[in-house]
Amino acid sequence: MCGIIGYIGKNNTKEVLLNGLKALEYRGYDSAGVAFGEKEKINIIKSVGKVVKLEKKIKDEKSTFGIAHTRWATNGEANETNAHPHQVGRVTLVHNGIVENADLLKENLKKKGYTFKSETDSEVVAALLDFYLKENEILDAIELTKKDLKGSYALGIIVDNTEEIYALRKDSPLILGVGKEENFLASDLPAFIKYTNKYILLEEGEVALLTNNEIKVYKNKNKIEKEIKVSDIKASTNDKAGYDHYMMKEIMEEPTVLEELISKYLKSDNKMFDISEYEAVDIVACGSAMYAGLIGKNLIEEYASIEVKCEVASEYRYKKNFYNRKTLVILVSQSGETADTIAAMRYAKGNNIDTLGIINNPNSTMARECDKVILTNAGVEVAVATTKAYILQSAVFSLIAYKTATKKGLLKENLEEDYLSIPEKLSNILKDQEKYQILAEKLYNTENCFFIGRGIDYAISLEGSLKLKEVSYIHSEAYQAGELKHGTISLIEENMPVFCIITDKNLKDKTISNLKETDARGAIGIIITTEELDYDSSYEKITVPTTSPLTQSLLVVPTLQLLAYYIAKLRNCDIDKPRNLAKSVTVE
Ligand code: M6R
Repeated sequence: MCGIIGYIGKNNTKEVLLNGLKALEYRGYDSAGVAFGEKEKINIIKSVGKVVKLEKKIKDEKSTFGIAHTRWATNGEANETNAHPHQVGRVTLVHNGIVENADLLKENLKKKGYTFKSETDSEVVAALLDFYLKENEILDAIELTKKDLKGSYALGIIVDNTEEIYALRKDSPLILGVGKEENFLASDLPAFIKYTNKYILLEEGEVALLTNNEIKVYKNKNKIEKEIKVSDIKASTNDKAGYDHYMMKEIMEEPTVLEELISKYLKSDNKMFDISEYEAVDIVACGSAMYAGLIGKNLIEEYASIEVKCEVASEYRYKKNFYNRKTLVILVSQSGETADTIAAMRYAKGNNIDTLGIINNPNSTMARECDKVILTNAGVEVAVATTKAYILQSAVFSLIAYKTATKKGLLKENLEEDYLSIPEKLSNILKDQEKYQILAEKLYNTENCFFIGRGIDYAISLEGSLKLKEVSYIHSEAYQAGELKHGTISLIEENMPVFCIITDKNLKDKTISNLKETDARGAIGIIITTEELDYDSSYEKITVPTTSPLTQSLLVVPTLQLLAYYIAKLRNCDIDKPRNLAKSVTVE
């Protein structure tokens, strides 16, 4: 993870770098640091914690170039010594990724006389490059350094205090911004979108050299031509539009992005939604993206009658997978840069299996490498806890199930009206927020809770539970409602909230029986259900309009997102940047 921004040009370097860091903070916020290029030296300033703390430490800056970093700690705790930039000899650099052979390299460098201040692998890279610079020109030294490194890296490098910045990457994102008499490098486009919408995608193995009026890209030390692309993301992506938090802003955007997605894909003849040629599907992803995949598994199996396995990416690539039928591997990722999911994608491709990516970031590694890609087009999501991107991933799975089932003749009903009605129904749900605030008031003091459901309602429970725990720090477990009594029910205590999801009418009575079992042991039951399944009871209740089972989760999950939001707010949690997390998890 970690965010990198580099700048060289006519603008105010301090402002550009700090704005960039703030836009990249979703990638990690354990510490931050900046290196300003000045006449006589490189001026490095670091601080522990968020970028605002670094900002306070920086006085007026006259520098015309610099590199900066916001860190999600991997090697070594979050202190100033381990914060980036790191400087060794002639080299100052910022790094995102993990160098897997850093210990070995460090031992060798120590034998050559290098000493190390930090516990980081990044300082080892700086020392290694400095070592090679003793007898080589810069590009040669970079190539030699690259050869020695195992693992992942995106690097922004200043050598001496020459007004030049070098950039290179492997398995970590880095993008170059092309301005007028100014150039940028960053982990992600929003970091410099305020200044330019022109960009170059730096590919693995390439090395970029940025000066204020030129970007040169080299491959094997030969200069190559690169396409300059134009982005349509808006600078306003980086503001909260009047909401207290990005999380709320992004929940409120759900009806609009859903409407765009549904109108783009519902009636189109997009072949990617028809997976009828496959006999088996493996859905592979992490976190919420995996839970969206579980929605997909339930719908594809039920409606399109194709067997689906849904697995966590970090497990998938290290186990035996039986590709003994015509199999499609679907990779799901908001960022398109999640290291585990990228590795699973490459594993599947390495086995000659077709891959389909459901991806939000169109410039990401996965969007470029999957055989086929369905873009979710949620726009930039800033809050670390995903909301709108998850909803669109679920909507894509719903459309895949619907279109494939229709193509196979397994579903005769035309559900177009149902799909088209979802954005407005969701918009109405989101307008009426008072009841979530009132419910949050009743529940926010709890330290443990459960989410239960069966079938697709279990998949919904998993996402509701994850959302609550990541933003409110309440310990929460999602459980298959019928399984609770086989042991875990021993954890139920007086006044413990049990959120019970009921959207499947065939399973309603069974699930309610399971809720009653917890009720009998003192739990507080909260039912989240549809108007059709609503019934008179003393339980706390959230009721959403009834839609087709193919689209129902799109109305239910946002209610759980709202609950998580309001509970976290009452607990004074840092909702957009929960502790220990980062949005784009680019390390294994
Ligand atoms: O960028 P990705 O969709 O690949 O990210 C996957 C997970 O890391 C992500 O969904 C994570 O679980 C979020 N914190 C959930 O809110």
